[in-house]
Amino acid sequence: MTTAFPFTSALVTGASSGIGEAMAELLGEAGIPTVVVARRTDRLQELADRFEHFEVLAADLTTPSGVATVVARVADSALPIDLVVNNAGFGTSGDFISLDPDRLADEVRLNIEALTRLSHAALAAMVPRGRGYLLNVSSVASFQPAPKLAVYAATKAYVTNLTESLHEEVRGTGVHVTALCPGLTRTEFQSVSNSDSYASQYPTFAWLEAREVAEAALRDVAKGKALSVPGAIYKGMVSGSSILPRRLARRLSGLVQR
Ligand SMILES: NC(=O)c1ccc[n+]([C@@H]2O[C@H](COP(=O)([O-])OP(=O)(O)OC[C@H]3O[C@@H](n4cnc5c(N)ncnc54)[C@H](OP(=O)(O)O)[C@@H]3O)[C@@H](O)[C@H]2O)c1
Repeated sequence: MTTAFPFTSALVTGASSGIGEAMAELLGEAGIPTVVVARRTDRLQELADRFEHFEVLAADLTTPSGVATVVARVADSALPIDLVVNNAGFGTSGDFISLDPDRLADEVRLNIEALTRLSHAALAAMVPRGRGYLLNVSSVASFQPAPKLAVYAATKAYVTNLTESLHEEVRGTGVHVTALCPGLTRTEFQSVSNSDSYASQYPTFAWLEAREVAEAALRDVAKGKALSVPGAIYKGMVSGSSILPRRLARRLSGLVQR
């Protein structure tokens, strides 16, 4: 069954795997023309071949030229984008001082800098039009410190905070801004972030599938929600983290990572 979404067109970064790919598939199944963005264009092309009106855009979003390419596409008023999804992101697991600082700088460039530039381009195009949707992919890790995933959690804290601010800033303009905060989701994230051990560390019920996360996210951005937290466990966790004393949340988070 295809879901009816209100979007007339979309652009999804990080559409070559995981949550972004699942979102692009849902949009494709609903007949929505979608621009798919990532570095692995072979994967994007396979996706584009399955759906009508898909456009492949190759971009490394840790580079100024990659960001400029996508900003230009979002700003193109001849081919307006109604839903922009800033989904591309990665993490790096391990003791902070043992990690490659260049990789951490790329993580900040992708998770924060590129997302900020694309959020700006999206809202600058959408607010004057009086309609549009912006979905920024954050994480449940954004709600508390995460020892051994410290830079990642800090980048996602930025994403949630920025996105909630923008949600309020554009209130009443006809534009909707949502932060998606998934918990553990089976994707390539675990191998990319060196956190494959999570598969045995966390019970099966804690894991979400990319498609269910993508479905919840698209449903919530269409409803104009500020935050989308898929799954009952993670909804409870996020509510709990807002009432736990910060010192306790930090300590618990440290114990989980030992
Ligand atoms: N999986 C989880 O447990 C989880 C939980 C909470 C939040 N998230 C967030 O969900 C989002 C999607 O992650 P995922 O779990 O679906 O992981 P994934 O399967 O590793 O997908 C990441 C996507 O980002 C793209 N990407 C990575 N580096 C890029 C770059 N430099 N330029 C352009 N695109 C780049 C990748 O494409 P290319 O490699 O082809 O460029 C890929 O399409 C991320 O923001 C992640 O932080 C994931």
